[in-house]
Amino acid sequence: MSLLPLTPDELLATTRSIRKRLDFSRPVEREVIQECLELAAQAPTGGNNQNWHFVVVTSQRQREALGDIYRKGFAHYQQLILSGRLTTSTSATAPEQVASYRKVRRSSQYLLDNIHRVPVMLIPCIYDRVDGQPSVEQAGTWGSILPATWSFMLAARARGLGTCWTTLHLYYERQAAAILGIPYERVTQAALIPVAYTLGTDFKRASRVPLQSIVHWEQW
Ligand SMILES: Cc1cc2nc3c(=O)[nH]c(=O)nc-3n(C[C@H](O)[C@H](O)[C@H](O)COP(=O)(O)O)c2cc1C
Repeated sequence: MSLLPLTPDELLATTRSIRKRLDFSRPVEREVIQECLELAAQAPTGGNNQNWHFVVVTSQRQREALGDIYRKGFAHYQQLILSGRLTTSTSATAPEQVASYRKVRRSSQYLLDNIHRVPVMLIPCIYDRVDGQPSVEQAGTWGSILPATWSFMLAARARGLGTCWTTLHLYYERQAAAILGIPYERVTQAALIPVAYTLGTDFKRASRVPLQSIVHWEQW
């Protein structure tokens, strides 16, 4: 599969959350997903346990069912915000933060309406359940699936594919597990990654908070 002419730094700096520029009409070849997964599996796992699993969903029926769960999760999330039980960056007041928040909201709404149309959904999973684990064990569990997932997304971007990290279906993780045959009692789902070719391949570097506000040399 051909790669975009991106330097490693460009790849790292321009792998964005793609929502509005997903090409729903172009099929994604099984081989390209396979290549991205081969690279994902080069990521580390605690104790080299490799206790990860990746569910690749292409069937329309399954994608529609997961899309419904994602929308239900989104509605639940909004309810939590409205009821004050969850706070988000809506509390941002600086004009550029507000503008950025609005842009993400519009883009998120588009994905919400269309997520079932992506040709491929990836559900990265890890053996064991994090529920009730002490934070040291949770760090080991999440840390054994999130690097691989990000590697998949980078490998996808290098091949002209767009992805977006999403987690909202996890409010109804058990229902998603039932649809996909995932053994919920023993396996935790980490995300739902929509995958499609992008409309155009030029993506910008993101604007982030200044490094000096988040980096602590020697001491916090
Ligand atoms: C842990 C995590 C969960 C996220 N969940 C969602 C989600 O459920 N839906 C969504 O549209 N975007 C989701 N995002 C994407 C973020 O909104 C996005 O990364 C952020 O706006 C920055 O944009 P960028 O990735 O293009 O730089 C998630 C990102 C992360 C890291």
